[in-house]
Amino acid sequence: MTIRYERDGDIAVLVADNPPLNTLGEQTRKGLSKGITRAIGEGAKAVVIYGDGRSWFAGADIREFGRPPVTPYLPDVCNQIEACPVPVIAAMHGTVLGGGLEIALACHYRVAVETAKMGMPEVNLGVIPGAGGTQRLPRLAGFAPAIEMITGGRSISASKALKLGIIDRIAEGNPKEIGLDYAASLLRDDQGPRPVSAMNTPQQVDFAAAKAKVKQTARGQLSPLVALDAIEASSRLSFAEGLAVERRLFHSSEETGQCKGMIHAFFAERQVSNLPELRGIMSREVSEIGVIGGGTMGAGIATAALLAGLRVTLIEITRDATEAAKARIGGNLSGALKRGKISEAQYDRIFAESLTLSTEYGDLSDTDLIIEAVFEDMAVKKQVFAQIEAIAKPSAILASNTSFLDINEIAASTGRARNVIGLHFFSPAHVMRLLEVIVGDETAPDVVATGFALGKRLNKIAVRSGVCDGFIGNRILSRYSTAADHMVLDGASPYQIDRVVEGFGLPMGPFAMADLAGLDIGQATRKRLAPTRDPRDRVPTYADTLCEKGHRGQKTGRGYYAYDGRARTENADVLPLIDAERERLGIKARTFDDDEILRRYMAAMVNEAARVVGEGIARRPLDVDVVLLMGYGFPRYHGGPLKWADMQGLSGILSDIQEFAKDDSYFWQPAPLLEQLVAQGRTFDDLNKEQSV
Ligand code: NAI
Repeated sequence: MTIRYERDGDIAVLVADNPPLNTLGEQTRKGLSKGITRAIGEGAKAVVIYGDGRSWFAGADIREFGRPPVTPYLPDVCNQIEACPVPVIAAMHGTVLGGGLEIALACHYRVAVETAKMGMPEVNLGVIPGAGGTQRLPRLAGFAPAIEMITGGRSISASKALKLGIIDRIAEGNPKEIGLDYAASLLRDDQGPRPVSAMNTPQQVDFAAAKAKVKQTARGQLSPLVALDAIEASSRLSFAEGLAVERRLFHSSEETGQCKGMIHAFFAERQVSNLPELRGIMSREVSEIGVIGGGTMGAGIATAALLAGLRVTLIEITRDATEAAKARIGGNLSGALKRGKISEAQYDRIFAESLTLSTEYGDLSDTDLIIEAVFEDMAVKKQVFAQIEAIAKPSAILASNTSFLDINEIAASTGRARNVIGLHFFSPAHVMRLLEVIVGDETAPDVVATGFALGKRLNKIAVRSGVCDGFIGNRILSRYSTAADHMVLDGASPYQIDRVVEGFGLPMGPFAMADLAGLDIGQATRKRLAPTRDPRDRVPTYADTLCEKGHRGQKTGRGYYAYDGRARTENADVLPLIDAERERLGIKARTFDDDEILRRYMAAMVNEAARVVGEGIARRPLDVDVVLLMGYGFPRYHGGPLKWADMQGLSGILSDIQEFAKDDSYFWQPAPLLEQLVAQGRTFDDLNKEQSV
């Protein structure tokens, strides 16, 4: 049974026993419903509900989403609990999320332990609370906090919940004890049921202003706005009418593709580090890491490691450079302090005890894992690896944070190729959650396992990638950026392209992104690839001119855009340079409509992603999806590029590629895997399922 029925004198106790998270699947809902009926039938004076194991009900069973609903429905179970003629007490610990919080709101009294966390994260899965949450929460907490919790999807602490009136008390002890204690005190005081649905609706707020705010932060995501509509309904309708509106809106949100995309993202993120090749492989012990180079990335990586409780020794070239690195790390840690991630005492301890800065490679002789984050230059990297090899202990893992360079070549330059791996962090490394673990031809399995273990320790989402230019993410990025460059050569403006891409839901279009990374980075990549470039490859040169004029992007205040703080306007120098290049190449500019821009951009992304999977660089389509979601701001509600492609229909994307190939058959070569899937009538998700472990 997923709900056990017990008695403690006059009090009936319903114990959730559906480990590990007590999710509210069919059997649990049935158990709750039966338990309440039995408690009433037996004449219990009160009912206490609590969860066994780690948590109260942590939410709905997401595997049931999108399937035909099965009775008893959660809203009905909630209503049944609320209608119970004797007081029902929720005694909570662990994570009280989504449907779990809705059950609690249907109870008449709520007590929780101090460490409990509560929230309504439904919008993060593309749906809205559907079991009375949008109607009951405002009645308890007021509109503004309810709007924030439901449309933002973030959890709050028990003490905040107490302050907001969502729970009645915080108590110490196990959930059963605190529930029974509370029930006994209510019975002593002769307190009866206290249904939230009968409470008055709170003071009105300006829903139009709230909508404008939610729209801005949701960036194309529909569920927060739908949730707001449901909350707004509670401000003007009876409870029963409001519930009916919530129900209707819940179903409409469930039917959108956004829900499918977000649920895919949710599972993909959990699946991504689950690799058959790592089963049973022990990772190596890592308690101290070395970082070489204390620039943007090295300082960020060091910060991430320090925040995770690791000791860090950072090597720079000169004393001044170590001081600069220290200042960068200090800045990063102050940010963490400001956001409440660490206390002042922790901040001081990290600086005093966990961080060593040095110019001597010899200080790394005891280090378990050394990450190089020096300039992106093969000769420099090889030289650094030779220096590391000379001092590192034999079991040390030697890692590179390179963005594009060949890990096999770096490994081969050492006598320890089995211990060499790529650990590709994203900037800012102490904030961004993606980590690409680059596995070379010779990398030992336990070194790979250690890369994943380190990722987990640093609270990152680690994705396995094989070796190729740019690995999974930057390789695909290069491809769709090139598609954008070609459109510019042929007549589109960079600003139109950025607007279309940002309208699709990405935080930045390719040209704004180039400005952020620095136009000199793009220039260096073009130079590096020039010797091996196919003559049919179309490469614009206006960006090099821009660079040479000192317009290198955000860091110089000008690139494609001119920057005034964070505000950007078009840089007037750009379009004339593009016109001049078109003239030189004899290209007559044509107009692109927004739809074509998006189709070309996404077709380039999907096609390259299909190659990356087809070549085995990424193990599964979902690995690519997670990289683009976590590292490149791909909107979760589109699920990742390959989930998006599945939802669009792969044959349409393939025919787009074939049509674009009429003008440029070199760039637009369909990926064999894409052709194969279309021929077989299969999807990328079918591949995910075949390869899931
Ligand atoms: P950066 O230029 O900010 O920092 C490089 C640092 O390495 C400098 O402080 C320099 O003094 C130091 N350095 C150079 N040679 C050294 C040596 N022999 N020993 C010790 N220190 C040395 O560069 P950034 O942006 O931090 O990039 C570092 C690496 O990370 C590059 O391989 C880059 O491709 C990669 N990367 C960069 C990302 C970014 O967004 N900036 C993202 C992911 C990877």
